[in-house]
Amino acid sequence: MTPPTQNERSQQKQQRPCVLWFTGLSGAGKSTLATLTERALFTYGCHTFSLDGDKVRTTLCKDLGFSIADRQENIRRIGAAAKLCTEAGLMVLTATISPLREMRDGVRHMFAPEEFIEVFVDAPLDVCETRDPKGLYRRARAGEIADFTGIDSAYEPPLNPEIHLHTDQMPPEDCVAVITRYLCDQGYLGLRE
Ligand code: ADX
Repeated sequence: MTPPTQNERSQQKQQRPCVLWFTGLSGAGKSTLATLTERALFTYGCHTFSLDGDKVRTTLCKDLGFSIADRQENIRRIGAAAKLCTEAGLMVLTATISPLREMRDGVRHMFAPEEFIEVFVDAPLDVCETRDPKGLYRRARAGEIADFTGIDSAYEPPLNPEIHLHTDQMPPEDCVAVITRYLCDQGYLGLRE
């Protein structure tokens, strides 16, 4: 006997496994959009799972900080966890800054091309800084936090993301609608009668 294959598992669930990889600055809206999108997919009947940087950093990645090497390892682990979830047939949503193209491309290459959907959650730095939901930008500007993304640590925007959302120009519900429309158009949704 062999264990069920990824194909068998996704057929059982009547869905195409994939990872929606939300990337962007802190405060751009990654977690908000990932949560709203997951809720929409769940309501639709999809079997989903989410891996949020803020949460994973208290468990799987709690030994890691914010140097480039530690972020690289954070992203590698989250990518590996997402890979296991897609092998289980799930639709996975991750929300991490994942600041460098090399990091994101490294994860992309762990997946079949149609399994990896990069979602660029785009808001200008000054907007994120004004939102400052956790007060971290203020602390970074005050010199209390070093290596803060966008302040003294780089963020490289995706060059060819599958989905590009301007969260300073569109309400979250409309952003989610763009994502679900993409998933419908590309055949990730609508597999059930
Ligand atoms: S990543 O760069 O490795 O992808 P990740 O998404 O897991 O980062 O974590 C980012 C979150 O950690 C931010 O939303 C913020 O709440 C917190 N944080 C704490 N210190 C930093 C920092 N120096 N740079 C960016 N985010 C930080």
